[in-house]
Amino acid sequence: MTAPTRVTEVRRNSSIPSLGLRGSVSGILAARRNQLDFIQHATTQGDIVRMRLGGIPMILINHPDYFQHVLVDAHANYDKDNFLYRAVETVFRGGLVSNPGGESWHARRRMMQPSFKRGSTVDFTAGMTELTDDLLRRWAGRSDQGAVVDVSADIGNLSLQIVLRSLFGVAAGAEVKAFERNFLELNTIVGNFFRMPFPPLSRRPRLRALIQEMDDFVDRLIRARRSGTEERRDLFGALLDATHGDDGTGFTQQELLGEILSTIVSGYETSSHSIAWVFYRLARHPDIQSRVQKEVDEVLQGQPPTFDSLAKLPYTRMVIDETLRLHTPAWQTMRRALRDDEIDGYRIPRGSSVYLNFLTYHRHPEFWPDPERFDPERFTPENVAKRPRNVYQPFGSGPRHCIGKYFALTEIHLITAMLAQSFTVSVPAGQPPVGFKPLVTLHPRGGIHLHLTPR
Ligand code: HEM
Repeated sequence: MTAPTRVTEVRRNSSIPSLGLRGSVSGILAARRNQLDFIQHATTQGDIVRMRLGGIPMILINHPDYFQHVLVDAHANYDKDNFLYRAVETVFRGGLVSNPGGESWHARRRMMQPSFKRGSTVDFTAGMTELTDDLLRRWAGRSDQGAVVDVSADIGNLSLQIVLRSLFGVAAGAEVKAFERNFLELNTIVGNFFRMPFPPLSRRPRLRALIQEMDDFVDRLIRARRSGTEERRDLFGALLDATHGDDGTGFTQQELLGEILSTIVSGYETSSHSIAWVFYRLARHPDIQSRVQKEVDEVLQGQPPTFDSLAKLPYTRMVIDETLRLHTPAWQTMRRALRDDEIDGYRIPRGSSVYLNFLTYHRHPEFWPDPERFDPERFTPENVAKRPRNVYQPFGSGPRHCIGKYFALTEIHLITAMLAQSFTVSVPAGQPPVGFKPLVTLHPRGGIHLHLTPR
């Protein structure tokens, strides 16, 4: 993305400025051709703008006070029953990520919360470390050490195994590759649908076939778990118990499949891209990589990281925070206004779709000088204190903020530290900068491919 330049100073009044291309064929085509540039352009028109995405009218907001209003202060007036999440609901069927809201969402959040508490995350770290160690050993044992490694593929696989093991107690085998492949295709179909929502998703046989294949995978996990004798008090157990409620409020089989799918996918997809981007940034900035390696060597003294030792690796964490600012994988969200509302004097009519884009938000030139520059120093405690609250939120905010935030941060921190202990990463000669591929989540276009040199 290129740094935005503000061309218009918007005067506050009750009518939200329009992008101008609203509703025109050229506007729809512009969004279809390059959704990121289109949204970036929209933010240059002001912090609140009317526009159309996929032909659907939306109000784009791009200011910390507006994010605070919609996601936190007035959250009860906004739900997820909108264009974006209705599409995702086709796959997740009530799952926590896309659940429209209200009591159904609240009950699920309460049920799942214990598995994401600090104590649970501490328990998961040994498994995360072990699985990462397996991958690092495989990398170290490659016969062709000079070859470029498809980091995105290997880390995607690792993240998926971490989620399955941590939250579902499953030691996954070769079948995870097919699961990943299916989800990538599904993500592409649904991601493209936002730019061109015809025909409707319900009339896409390939999408149905992909969901069926992923359901079959989940169904095999359920059968294996139900046929086992071991009593486990984990997220999987809680979800299965919720289908046995005798008060008639438990999950249906479809809802159970959707919730498990939603958890697996949201648990591995975003984290894996984040880790791959961190590796990429280390490779692009050798001086920063050296500092991370120095910190990790001094603190860990060759030992594997533990949950507690992560707090002693603050520079590594700053690199991760800056990576999540520029490459945040959960890059967009949307809310629907349940009643008429007002944001900073602008009228938000009932039923409006409010669009929030974390990628442009994290590049707002008023809060992030030279926004495209990769600079972990932005995240020293002193610099963080100088910025308004909420101006950085890769995990969202308010009641629907990411339930897996600490899980993800722990995983990314552990894996980055272990990589830094074992390898120096570098960009293959002549490789052009890696761009974005906007799907439901944001992917690195073409994936991250790097040289890994054992230290
Ligand atoms: C770097 C990794 C991750 C990022 C950047 C991320 C980002 C986000 C964001 C921005 C939201 C809020 C969306 C909204 O307000 O509409 C969200 C929600 C959610 N995330 Fe994450 N996430 C990550 C990892 C994870 C992991 C590891 C899990 C589970 C294991 C997870 C599960 C969820 C769920 C279930 C929700 C919906 C919560 C609710 O609505 O109550 N995420 N995530």
